[in-house]
Amino acid sequence: MKTLVTYFSQTGNTKKIAEAIYGELEGEKEIKPIGEVANLEGYDLAFVGFPIMQFDIPAKVKTFLSEKTSGKNLGIFMTHAVPEGFEAIHSWTGSCAQVAEGANILGTFECQGELAQPVIDMLLKADDPQMKAFGEMGPSTKGQPDESRVQKAKEFAKEVQVKVQ
Ligand SMILES: Cc1cc2nc3c(=O)[nH]c(=O)nc-3n(C[C@H](O)[C@H](O)[C@H](O)COP(=O)(O)O)c2cc1C
Repeated sequence: MKTLVTYFSQTGNTKKIAEAIYGELEGEKEIKPIGEVANLEGYDLAFVGFPIMQFDIPAKVKTFLSEKTSGKNLGIFMTHAVPEGFEAIHSWTGSCAQVAEGANILGTFECQGELAQPVIDMLLKADDPQMKAFGEMGPSTKGQPDESRVQKAKEFAKEVQVKVQ
């Protein structure tokens, strides 16, 4: 059993979740930024993680999911600034399934991630009112993902891995 955890993370939130998942995995395992993964050959399972950006999956993650995951067992994880339960989250998980349509998605995990201060400053200056609204939401994201979310990510890792063993 060989498992890969790969992620895209700009300010560390998704990386924190990636490391929590990695720590829980049994068997042979590797953790790498998504840019360092040429393909998924040799892995029985891959966890792929990213932040939501501008209401979407980042372009390079979309390319990875659509071009490199066909026929592979996947666990998807994402972080976002909106609170859990926010309606758009369903559409983001739906897009993952669409983009990685050839993959066998065994589970999806999502949680809130803090908006970094430089990002808040940038968003508050944006012309797009939706982006501005995100900036205003910044303080309510402070400290995320917190320990309870990290714990949930660990449980997710185990739940997904057991489906492959
Ligand atoms: C340019 C930019 C756009 C973002 N757009 C969204 C968004 O549309 N919806 C959302 O919930 N969070 C949005 N976020 C917040 C990030 O998804 C969130 O802070 C995430 O945890 C960052 O992960 P990272 O630290 O791994 O980069 C945005 C962040 C940035 C920098």
